[in-house]
Amino acid sequence: MSDLQEGRAKILQRFDEVYEELASSVEDESIRLMLQYTHQLHRLWRPLLGVLPLPEGGRFLDVGTGSGLVPLEIATTRTIDAVGFDIESRYIAFAERFREALLSEGILDSTSQVDFRLGDLANLSLESESFDVILVREVLQFLVDPQAATDSLFQASKPGAIICMSDLDDQLFVSYPEHSDAFSRMFRSIGNVQRAQGGDREIGRKLSYYLSQSGFAIQSVFAIPQARHFVETENDPERLFVIEQMKEARERVVSSGEMSDAQFTALIEQIENEPQCERYRFNARLVAIGQKPRA
Ligand SMILES: C[S@@+](CC[C@H](N)C(=O)[O-])C[C@H]1O[C@@H](n2cnc3c(N)ncnc32)[C@H](O)[C@@H]1O
Repeated sequence: MSDLQEGRAKILQRFDEVYEELASSVEDESIRLMLQYTHQLHRLWRPLLGVLPLPEGGRFLDVGTGSGLVPLEIATTRTIDAVGFDIESRYIAFAERFREALLSEGILDSTSQVDFRLGDLANLSLESESFDVILVREVLQFLVDPQAATDSLFQASKPGAIICMSDLDDQLFVSYPEHSDAFSRMFRSIGNVQRAQGGDREIGRKLSYYLSQSGFAIQSVFAIPQARHFVETENDPERLFVIEQMKEARERVVSSGEMSDAQFTALIEQIENEPQCERYRFNARLVAIGQKPRA
């Protein structure tokens, strides 16, 4: 490893440690688990950040920024002018704490501007033609009208700007042994409710279509695969995160008539008490990159 690579690896290690220290001290369990889960996903993505073609001094927009991982990691290597916004004030508060902690560690470019704002992509007024690079990672799946959101990002892009969208597609999720009946039933019911509310867990395959319909020229589409063989212990972060999401969905699932409150309680208990299991899992994130025509 060259000195440069070694220096970079040390910075990233400290970046991850600072994140984990802060995330593990968050009291709200659902926020804490989400922070830990997105960190895992982010590590998969890390090698790709370097390919985001940010011109020196260019403006970067991170839509649904969550904990601000992406703009803050970019700011450990270069000067950027970035805005990250999110609909959830607790993520924005975390992102600001994370930025301050990195600054005090001295691993953030102090001339970079990384601002975090509260905002809903569905009704956000972004300045026209003001961003050079836009990232929308794991956000579109939650929106009622992804096409309208993509249209507004087209307006906010400078001519020649690059947009990178990435999301899941549940049909790519493969597990062996298959999940228990209780888990599968709960997973299906929550998917039904998310769909009924306008969300889409098969949005990955549609990203390039939305981009193209908004006027972006498609530059590339690809997948980030992840295959694991692991022992799913009681404390596996992904398992805890999924169970927490299930619990959060209780009111929606019950009021939609998918199942009664008693059935929900019984299923959650079964899922929580499932024995530790050795498992193969495959999943993939789909990515589409578009460019706004110059003229
Ligand atoms: C799975 S997290 C991804 C966070 C971040 N993009 C990342 O990849 O690390 C989804 C994020 O989208 C945000 N979100 C959901 N709907 C949104 C909306 N309508 N406007 C802005 N943010 C939204 C959530 O609050 C959450 O932070």
